[in-house]
Amino acid sequence: MATMQLFPLTIGLTLLSVVHAGYINQGECATTDKLLGNWYIIRWAGNLPLPEEKLRSPLPPFTLSKNRIGYLEFRMNISSPIGCVEFKMAMNEEKGKPCFFTLWMWHYVRIVFIGGENFGFAYLNGITNGVPQKMGMLMGRRNHTANPTLLKDFETLVIQLSLNETSIINPPYDDSCEPGKES
Ligand SMILES: *[C@@H]1O[C@H](CO)[C@@H](O)[C@H](O)[C@H]1NC(C)=O
Ligand SMILES: *[C@@H]1O[C@H](CO)[C@@H](O)[C@H](O)[C@H]1NC(C)=O
Repeated sequence: MATMQLFPLTIGLTLLSVVHAGYINQGECATTDKLLGNWYIIRWAGNLPLPEEKLRSPLPPFTLSKNRIGYLEFRMNISSPIGCVEFKMAMNEEKGKPCFFTLWMWHYVRIVFIGGENFGFAYLNGITNGVPQKMGMLMGRRNHTANPTLLKDFETLVIQLSLNETSIINPPYDDSCEPGKES
């Protein structure tokens, strides 16, 4: 499979044991059914070629649900000049490859619960056209605040991805496209 070859083997091997490696909190591979619900982005880091102010822009919450064919689906309402637009992306849990979800464009993302099922790491580490693409995110269920050990564990993940921990972004919360705040 072409996308498999794009995945850098050495980094893949280094991170293979990430569920058990180096965190204060216990990690556990996430599964589609356990991920369903409303989430927000607590921290993120990545080597995206974007200007600093763009990287630090506010981020809306997102929902993980199941689509008609049973795939996990990421949904986020994004504000745009024409109003709020719902962005959707299918993420297919890979059978027999714990923690792996296939993305249409980014090849693979790994999702690991950390310290229980209210917080998770989602991260990708691949190469597109010879350019490394790395991104990591600490996500939390709505109405849950990450404690300092989770933030510390996220720093560990960022370092494992060979990103600089000083590049971790604490994004402002963007609620401009939220429907009635019922929760
Ligand atoms: C991380 O970034 C800081 C500030 O931008 C820099 O001083 C430091 O050398 C960087 N560390 C690594 C390992 O690249
Ligand atoms: C996006 O907005 C629509 C319309 O308000 C709403 O029905 C939908 O649940 C929202 N999706 C997310 C992920 O918040």
